[in-house]
Amino acid sequence: MKLNRITLLAATLLVLSPLTPAGAETSAPIPNPAPAHPELRPVLDEFGGHEGLKALMDDFMVILLDDPRMRPFFEQVDQQRVKDKLAEQFCVILGGDCSYTGMDMVEAHAGMEVRHADFNILVEDLQIAMDGRDIPTRAQNKLLAKLAPMHREVINR
Ligand code: HEM
Repeated sequence: MKLNRITLLAATLLVLSPLTPAGAETSAPIPNPAPAHPELRPVLDEFGGHEGLKALMDDFMVILLDDPRMRPFFEQVDQQRVKDKLAEQFCVILGGDCSYTGMDMVEAHAGMEVRHADFNILVEDLQIAMDGRDIPTRAQNKLLAKLAPMHREVINR
């Protein structure tokens, strides 16, 4: 009788096992692409608020398209959409009264091969854009510190 029950349990587990693919329970959820940091609200002011971020993204996209290392990534995409979503994302991160309506960072960068070096180059170009708008280095670094951990979702090669 006891053996039968064990056999039944084993058979049930065998039948049910394909319903839970290996690793499904352990894979980490994709992090929030725009975690709000209300304490950074004063930093948002140094960027000129959401409007300042939109203007910064205009400059940033010009710099990216002018950079032969970055142009291949951005020349074919909807650049206005990317600028809009980035401005929203940065606004939320810096504690602004905005909403991020874009994709998560895994989805946004799927299908392109982003290396560690590409990530660093993009950050370099963002710094050039921020310098060009006289954003104080301390404010720049506050934003960059929140973007840095996203390399885990963005780099996929
Ligand atoms: C912390 C770093 C990064 C952040 C926060 C970021 C953020 C974003 C956001 C918000 C979007 C728009 C998502 C949407 O359309 O809903 C986007 C799209 C895109 N990103 Fe990034 N990104 C980062 C790094 C990179 C890097 C390193 C590359 C390549 C060198 C890259 C290339 C692109 C491209 C090409 C698109 C447009 C995709 C498409 O429309 O098909 N990004 N990114």
